[in-house]
Amino acid sequence: MSVATPIFKYGVMKMSQHLDADSAAFAAMDRQSVLHPFVRLDEYARGMSPDPLVVDRADGLWVYDAKGRKILDAFSALYCVNVGYGRQRIVDAMAEQGARLPYYHVFAGATHSPAAQLAEKLIELTGGRMSKVFFGSSGSDANETQIKLAWYVNNVAGRPQKKKIISRERGYHGGTIMTSSLTGLPAYHQGFDLIKDVVRRTVAPDMFWSGFDDPAAFVRHCVADLEAIIAREGADTIAAFIAEPMIGAGGMVPPPPGYWQAIQQVLRRHDILLILDEVVTAFGRLGEWFGGDLWGIEPDLVTLAKGLTSGYAPLSAVLIGPRVWEALEAGGPKLGAFGHGYTYTAHPTCAAAGLANIAIIEEEDLLANARDVAPYLQAGLVDRLAGHPLVGEIRAQGLALAVEFTAEGSPRRHLAKDLKFAGRVFARAVENGLFARTMPHGDIIGLAPAISLTRGEADLIVERLGKAIDEAAATLSPSERRAA
Ligand SMILES: Cc1ncc(COP(=O)(O)O)c(C=O)c1O
Repeated sequence: MSVATPIFKYGVMKMSQHLDADSAAFAAMDRQSVLHPFVRLDEYARGMSPDPLVVDRADGLWVYDAKGRKILDAFSALYCVNVGYGRQRIVDAMAEQGARLPYYHVFAGATHSPAAQLAEKLIELTGGRMSKVFFGSSGSDANETQIKLAWYVNNVAGRPQKKKIISRERGYHGGTIMTSSLTGLPAYHQGFDLIKDVVRRTVAPDMFWSGFDDPAAFVRHCVADLEAIIAREGADTIAAFIAEPMIGAGGMVPPPPGYWQAIQQVLRRHDILLILDEVVTAFGRLGEWFGGDLWGIEPDLVTLAKGLTSGYAPLSAVLIGPRVWEALEAGGPKLGAFGHGYTYTAHPTCAAAGLANIAIIEEEDLLANARDVAPYLQAGLVDRLAGHPLVGEIRAQGLALAVEFTAEGSPRRHLAKDLKFAGRVFARAVENGLFARTMPHGDIIGLAPAISLTRGEADLIVERLGKAIDEAAATLSPSERRAA
């Protein structure tokens, strides 16, 4: 068993037998020096919250912490390690590329084979529906590019007023200024100044809390809300609609039947571009290369990241459809060179990781595996948890799943917020050797295991999550279970 040698402050630390003791040292060092995303900064820095989990290594779906605990990662880290950990082929591809050409840019007149090959491969995977690929390093910067593209093409077309972007409540699109403004989750807005003048938000297609029982009526409600925004603002002021095929960070919610057909009709009628944020849903998460294909979505622009390299290297991509490409081309004579790009656009080592990752998905037919094992996992969860007094809804699309908790005796009433029930389930799950994820909206536990998941691992997820929920439920008093 090989263990990466950790670098310690004043030299090189020794090996794994020391990691248990040293994990406390790393934790202390971390509290002293690292500013973490999504952590109560004061409590963490002052040692008032539990020690962080020091992750040491991983293989397949299994993560090992510095204390030597072996934990089944049912969320693929941040739903990105789609092919699982320990893929030597990706590591070798990066090492070979790094040795040959670790970095070169693709600005003005330069390119390299990984950029060209990966772009061609991505277009092939869309069946030729998309025309061009622009690379970045993260989902956030790719979505930032999307907005710039939507504005650019309207400027080129002589429609400088057509600039607003409609996003959805509970959508998540990133952490940059524009993409966090587009994000419809208040947890990501606290304390930051958002861009308000060009962002409008429409309802989330989550029927569970909507008060609707009939999906067709609920879809009409979603469409009416979108139509009302367009009527109020004027279609000539709206450039694009950005959405995930299914809600991800907002609670793993698949859309109701007919939603996307109806929404797309509205967008086409008003000449509004559709930016499909497939950062979570592509590369097999929903059993397809692109999750949008499940609902017949025909986007103008697509955002990819995460599963593009299975998280082995930071890489994102914007896929540009023919309509937008035509408009971008028309910008040449008017505006000259396209003035947008990042130092690490099409980074060769990251692109090499992307190519190896896609080759693994193809050669091992992991899309078929995801399609096979997903219903098995879903059925296992339903068998174990349906009827549990604190489980309000179990929902899933492919290998994106969620369990939403509600008060006992009423599936449509929240548990008191300060009980942080999903957080209790998360903590118990870790103790039982399982990583799930508390989603930032509501009392929701999300699951998104690697698409190489086996049935045996699916059984373990069900068993460990079920146990964690029972144990967390036992920490509530009868009145806490029932009270909203
Ligand atoms: C749908 C979606 N879009 C964009 C992003 C942002 O990606 P990144 O964190 O790589 O910037 C995420 C991240 O979780 C996401 O889920």
